[in-house]
Amino acid sequence: MCGLIGIVHKEGNVCEKIHKGLEYLQYRGYDSCGISVMEDGEFYANKQIGPISGLKKNCHSGKIGIGHTRWATHGCISIKNTHPFMHKNLAIVHNGIIENHSEIRDKYPDYHWKTGCDTESILKSTYEHLKEYRNINDEITDHADWNYAFEKMSEELDGSFAVAFMDLSYPDTLFFIRKGLSPLSIAVSDDFGAIASDCLALSDMSDHVIDIENGQYGYVKAGKYEIKPGNINEKRHIIKSPKMSEKSHDTWFAHEFHTQPMVLSNALHKFNSAFTLSDFEKPKFIDILGCGSSYYAGCVGKYWIEKYANIMCRVQMSSEWKDLKGYDRTIALISQSGETADTLAAFGKQLGAHKTVGFVNTLGSSLSRAVDHVVPTFVGQEVSVASTKAMTGQMLSLFLWATKLSGVNKQDELTELFEKMSCLINKLPENTKEVIDICANVDDLFILAKGNLVPIAYEGALKIKELAYVHAEAMSASELKHGPLAMINPDSSQAIIFLAPSSSSLWSKMLSAVEEVHSRGGKVIVISDKPEKFNVNYSVKMPYIEEDLAPFLYILSMQWIAYGLAIRKGNAIDMPRNLAKSVTVE
Ligand code: AGP
Repeated sequence: MCGLIGIVHKEGNVCEKIHKGLEYLQYRGYDSCGISVMEDGEFYANKQIGPISGLKKNCHSGKIGIGHTRWATHGCISIKNTHPFMHKNLAIVHNGIIENHSEIRDKYPDYHWKTGCDTESILKSTYEHLKEYRNINDEITDHADWNYAFEKMSEELDGSFAVAFMDLSYPDTLFFIRKGLSPLSIAVSDDFGAIASDCLALSDMSDHVIDIENGQYGYVKAGKYEIKPGNINEKRHIIKSPKMSEKSHDTWFAHEFHTQPMVLSNALHKFNSAFTLSDFEKPKFIDILGCGSSYYAGCVGKYWIEKYANIMCRVQMSSEWKDLKGYDRTIALISQSGETADTLAAFGKQLGAHKTVGFVNTLGSSLSRAVDHVVPTFVGQEVSVASTKAMTGQMLSLFLWATKLSGVNKQDELTELFEKMSCLINKLPENTKEVIDICANVDDLFILAKGNLVPIAYEGALKIKELAYVHAEAMSASELKHGPLAMINPDSSQAIIFLAPSSSSLWSKMLSAVEEVHSRGGKVIVISDKPEKFNVNYSVKMPYIEEDLAPFLYILSMQWIAYGLAIRKGNAIDMPRNLAKSVTVE
């Protein structure tokens, strides 16, 4: 994964500009970060473990530099493995994975490999090919040495990568290459040339970018650039995210959690005016693809699409996507960031054979540019790595798609829902106190639900793992007696949470499932509008909600419990360990 940026600017002080750009890129990883500036024939590097906020802004006043924010793939989190890497005349930053890096290491057995990263194989390969060319050509014009090195190294290296280089022999030029899925854009004016993994990192300097396509390489400097092969890439206007409002709580997670009713209500208005049914023919079959929370939003969406629109729907994790040959269908790809590599790769596999719709929150992202039709989820930028409003926004847009496809009007129910969400959010801190106490003192949590709340149980378990680092396992309550019931043990450090709205068509069966666990001594917590109907000691009181809309309310309780647990444990809320906001490697 990782984010990279490079800037060459006539005015100098690139370090500060790179630092600013890295703040935008932090969603791609925050294990460590670094900046290297070139001046007077030397590289000056500044690196640190952890997020950008701790990295010096004014490390050097040079006119050309590169920066990086890392999500570790190869090599542990350490300064040694933090980009930029330097070797002789070259400095490099990289996003992606080099799959045959160990082959490259074997190819140069006498070289003293300094890091544990696959990136170093790019550095070595490029260095050797540049040397090869320079050794046999006295006069070098038009960056022929770099063109040669790029051709050779992209033959030699397998994988997906975007790379930016500085070369002491070219003190005013940044070189770049893209192979595979790792995105890369450049911006140029008379004063500067710049390159980054995401156009937003360049948005303080430019309104436009040029996207580099798979297989292209080139250079950029103030007032000039070249892209090969092709050099016909068009300029694209950068769609900036609306200015972030100040956060109303200590963390972005809490802020985004609290804004959900308001954000969803705004999204509903925008969606109603932006989306007409004529945008889509009624598909015969729908395949929904996504990862993580987006996948779970898709799983809830399936219930609505099948129920309201009477269209067969299948939901798959993007990474597991298998084509059903011969089916005429619409493929809906769901992604907050629009940069998730697994989802982009799934899109690539469908080979344009089917109509594609992207439910995307970040307009201008790779996915939003690739699909036939974009449905924005309209929830604004989401900063917290653990998703709240982006996921409920995806559910809302899928709900609206399903109702529009079927002609059902649920606008009044949705307005009422947003009010209930607001009331519930105010009550959750009090209503969940005791339950959070219990969950904080067990090793294992089981979250059980039925019907359209099964995906919410999974999303709740994901939130708990992601924020609280506690083992949480979700399952359908109907599956209990087919095996998992054996796990229930009064002597084990466990609690079993049931999501149990009384409006559920499976309510009576849920009463029995809870009883089966309770009678075996399990520590049961019910989250329900009728907790008194259960013979249990612990509960979270919920408002009544009709079955179809229950996912919107029940996810709030799970988000809040996960947050409460993470706070108890003193965990980093907005940037959980080992994660990144956008997963840009497969
Ligand atoms: C959710 O809290 C996660 N951070 C994660 O599962 C996320 O939903 C997933 O990586 C997909 O991201 P996307 O929506 O940007 O494609």
